Amino acid sequence: MTGASPPRPPGPAAAYRPALHRYALAVAIATGVLLFVGGLVTSTGSAMAVPTWPLDFGRLFPRMTGGVLFEMGHRFVAAAVGLMTVVLAVWLHVAEPRPGVRALGVWAAAAVVAQGVLGGLTVLLRLPLALAISHAGLAEIFFCLNVTIALVTSRGWMESPVPPSAPDAGRPDVRALTTALVAVIYGQILIGALVRHTGAGLAIPDFPLAFGRLWPPITTALVAYQMAHRVGAAVVTAMLLWTAGAVLRRHGSVAALRRPALLLIVLLAWQIYLGAAIIWTRRAVVPTTTHVLSGGLLLATALVLALRSRRLLAAAAAAPAATRAAAMPASAPAAGPAASRALP
Ligand code: HEM
Repeated sequence: MTGASPPRPPGPAAAYRPALHRYALAVAIATGVLLFVGGLVTSTGSAMAVPTWPLDFGRLFPRMTGGVLFEMGHRFVAAAVGLMTVVLAVWLHVAEPRPGVRALGVWAAAAVVAQGVLGGLTVLLRLPLALAISHAGLAEIFFCLNVTIALVTSRGWMESPVPPSAPDAGRPDVRALTTALVAVIYGQILIGALVRHTGAGLAIPDFPLAFGRLWPPITTALVAYQMAHRVGAAVVTAMLLWTAGAVLRRHGSVAALRRPALLLIVLLAWQIYLGAAIIWTRRAVVPTTTHVLSGGLLLATALVLALRSRRLLAAAAAAPAATRAAAMPASAPAAGPAASRALP
């Protein structure tokens, strides 16, 4: 019989590895904890509590009081996460057949090393603004890399059948919208880092108004940074609601897209509330640091939605091709599993 070669199930090469995925998830969660612990250093004004690096004047365990506790605590948690990341990279190198996913492990390990060096230089050079913002920006990229590894090693990513979702027909398409959303949130986080590291957090003492007006006179650079962050919040809000609305309207039946879209709306409301709480509490440590962490969670959730949109909507578009392949001669290149293996 010359006919059809039925689509093959994914071979062991593409198999779900529960232990690897759980470990990747643990690394991503530990990185979230590190974002919070790192945020505490600036929120408590402890960045220069230990002016030497990597040790405190040669001591591994100085007296852990006041700012030293936050600064050295941050270094210890960072070292632990760094070690976990290197182990993950090695594990992926040994066990992961997809080159793209192995590369993610290498990038994450490189990012954590670069992040340590940036953090060290930030301390040694007495907190230059460009380094402090780069340290904050790279922290988010590192977090996103680890979240991506956890996502692409998950059972849902590797084994779930293509959902019966129509290819994305709307304009702009959901894949473009979600990608733009990730970029807009990341830009807003960088402006947040500028606000934070220039001490512009309370440059405008009230919220939602600014000096009692909708648009205050921009008298200083700090007021400009603070207003830029508020305008950025409005842009993020518009972009996020547009994106989540498009996802829910067009693909609301696909749980893997619906859930992160709904979570994004909840996280956005929480993030704006925390931003307001920073002003209302005069930069109390808990809301200020939680705002840093939840900004990272917002970014990571948008990234998960963007990656899943690319996988599921592309796969949905490819599904008719797979069906056609079943009717092709055996010599024709097989679609389906091959397509799934080509994705990270
Ligand atoms: C809606 C999207 C928002 C996102 C994604 C976001 C994200 C962030 C992030 C990540 C930081 C810290 C950056 C860092 O140091 O790494 C930050 C700082 C800050 N954000 Fe937002 N933010 C948002 C909205 C708001 C709003 C509505 C306000 C209200 C005024 C606000 C007020 C602040 C303030 C005051 C700081 C500086 C905190 C400090 O002085 O330590 N943010 N933001």
